[in-house]
Amino acid sequence: MSTSKPLPHDAAQLHVTGTARYVDDIPTPAGTLHLAFGLSDQARGKIAAMNLEQVTASAGVVAVLTADDLPFSNDVSPSAHDEPLLATGQVHYLGQPLFIVVATSHLAARRAARLAQVEITAEPAILTIDDAMAANSRFEDGPRIYAKGDPDRILTAAPNRLRGSLEIGGQEHFYLEGQAALALPLEGGDMLIHSSTQHPTEIQHKVAEAIGAPMHAVRVETRRMGGGFGGKESQGNALAVACAIAARHTGAPCKMRYDRDDDMMITGKRHDFRITYDAGFDETGRITALDFTHYARCGWAMDLSLPVADRAMLHADNAYHLEHIRITSHRLKTNTQSATAFRGFGGPQGIVGIERVMDHIAATLGLDPLEVRRANFYRDGNITQTTPYQQPVTDCIIQALTDRVTANAGYDERRKDIASWNAQNPILKRGLALTPVKFGISFTLTHLNQAGALVHVYHDGSIHLNHGGTEMGQGLFQKVAQIAAAEFGVPIEQVKITATDTAKVPNTSATAASSGTDLNGMAVLNACTTIRGRMAGHLAMLHDCDPGAIRFENGHVRAGDTTLTFAQAAQATYEARISLSATGFYKTPDIKWDRIKGVGQPFFYFAYGAAITEVVIDTLTGENRILRADILHDAGQSLNPALDIGQIEGGYVQGAGWLTTEELVWDARGALKTHAPATYKIPACSDRPDVFNVALWDKPNPAQTIYRSKAVGEPPFMLGISVWSALADAVAACGPNYADLQTPATAEAVLAAVKRAKGDA
Ligand code: MTE
Ligand code: MOS
Repeated sequence: MSTSKPLPHDAAQLHVTGTARYVDDIPTPAGTLHLAFGLSDQARGKIAAMNLEQVTASAGVVAVLTADDLPFSNDVSPSAHDEPLLATGQVHYLGQPLFIVVATSHLAARRAARLAQVEITAEPAILTIDDAMAANSRFEDGPRIYAKGDPDRILTAAPNRLRGSLEIGGQEHFYLEGQAALALPLEGGDMLIHSSTQHPTEIQHKVAEAIGAPMHAVRVETRRMGGGFGGKESQGNALAVACAIAARHTGAPCKMRYDRDDDMMITGKRHDFRITYDAGFDETGRITALDFTHYARCGWAMDLSLPVADRAMLHADNAYHLEHIRITSHRLKTNTQSATAFRGFGGPQGIVGIERVMDHIAATLGLDPLEVRRANFYRDGNITQTTPYQQPVTDCIIQALTDRVTANAGYDERRKDIASWNAQNPILKRGLALTPVKFGISFTLTHLNQAGALVHVYHDGSIHLNHGGTEMGQGLFQKVAQIAAAEFGVPIEQVKITATDTAKVPNTSATAASSGTDLNGMAVLNACTTIRGRMAGHLAMLHDCDPGAIRFENGHVRAGDTTLTFAQAAQATYEARISLSATGFYKTPDIKWDRIKGVGQPFFYFAYGAAITEVVIDTLTGENRILRADILHDAGQSLNPALDIGQIEGGYVQGAGWLTTEELVWDARGALKTHAPATYKIPACSDRPDVFNVALWDKPNPAQTIYRSKAVGEPPFMLGISVWSALADAVAACGPNYADLQTPATAEAVLAAVKRAKGDA
């Protein structure tokens, strides 16, 4: 069975006509109340006094709730129970929720929240990586260290050696739909929650804890998100819990959506990192030994920081075989927003580290950076090479993929053209770079690699499809519907995609780690196989043929000499009193991982890709443009090439934004100054490459995934690293010095690097 069709996103028409429903669009019952948080204006300190009289007296306010009004649990952490919904005395960051205003309108709630008189006795805040290292402020007792071989001995013996340090900025998710939740109180104290979340089961779990009820009393529904990007794995908990608490307190439906500024002040972002490196290498640029230190700024609560920092370590090799390597990872606790999941989940930071080392070695040896990369690639089809965590790399295709994309993009000729162009142009300089991606697919917390599905066939032949994954624009629902349609041999229109619902499929994992289709697609396949088997068994008996010979195709079922429509087959099965409804389940095979030792097989397989980017910079202003991008990306046997190419284009542009224009700035008090689109610049349509060639590698996944496809949600994000590397290449054309370009490479940063390259810094 297979399905590989470039069908549009199932909700494309709803999206473009503005009729797709998000949480904020759901018609609310009369009497619905609206919530806003009152926020801390200090990064760290003790609450000395909180006078909320004026808040309570403000027009439209129905109730004001503080930590003392939380009857059961004051925790919205997805991990360590260290994240109070409302501060209880100690304040941990500027923007932390202190109290909840419940009012008759969104605006009334927000206005009232500003009227609080809160006295916080300030304490010295730990804001930066340096502050945290000096204070030994961290999660876990000490750094985590993964190592292979003998890096110290080989480094000492290395023919060449270089050290460096790289600052890697964080990133705001900037999902177009902000965080939102709606709580509808039901009879007997039960609760229905609509939430813009990647993780409905976690919302159910935290709401149940907060209202002191078992999970069966809480149902969570998520039709879609207007983007999640990891920012809705855990950050939606606070809104859903606040709404449920307020709904319990007032008896009224309660709704909360963050205003964009509040969203940016309150919620966690991508972890910013510092990565230092000490590399030994030979004359060809081949790395003999490497010692990395990662410093991850995690913010005030643990959230998902440990697995994020782990994944950064697990991608410190990217597509390169490193025999002698050590990675030391510090997970630093700071008085800033609690950094969280963001597309790539730490992987991008780890990969930027090694890509910088490649560029730095090339600059030192005077080689084309692509030669240095090629000298270090894992060998295709070599099953004896292992990652730093000792997983054999059995499925590598990076050499063949690089050969093809460089040939298609005319890399060698353009490298020469750009050199002569740069020699003639004193003001504008061009740069070219190829960066590869190898990304590990599976949750590193092994038990999360499971999924469930619920499929009904009605007796008119229409199909109701449900599974544990959530839709955030990535096209998961469409891909999974294609699988169900293929299994029953019916047109896609016969399959109804329904909202994710904790009452239909329980105990789900977050839709994350790019595993949405791998896991839920297989669970749906499993449910469809069960129903098809029952239908085939019955029809074989009726028409006196072998059940194995029954065919489901083109909207029909063929049983021996008889052909029925799928609807007739469903009707016949129903009349025989055979169930047309089934659950499905899947768990990823062959994975095991010891995150303390850093040894095992955390990933079921790897996804590969490479991007070649050409940029031009203005050496007088630092302004720059992407002229051309050529991408070859491995989505296995693509389930839907149109959606996969969309993911690749979007991922590349989002990755480019992270490393170029998207800059987060906190002031000395720990206040985030870039909390709106006026000061935080995500890429616009006009920032996409002028020429944008995206192709799929399109060979089946050797691992047994759904129809041999590969996960595609996160890996292309890291193709955006080629933009940063190309900018560094353009800067290198400006002068003799190695300019050490940091991230984000904003226009200002590029200009400063140009000056360093020229030596007139
Ligand atoms: N694409 C869109 N349009 N919107 C999103 O929010 N999130 C990304 C990626 N692509 C996202 C997206 C992230 S962080 C992940 S983990 C995957 O989609 C999740 O979906 P999947 O597992 O179905 O690929
Ligand atoms: Mo994606 S960061 O795994 O939600």
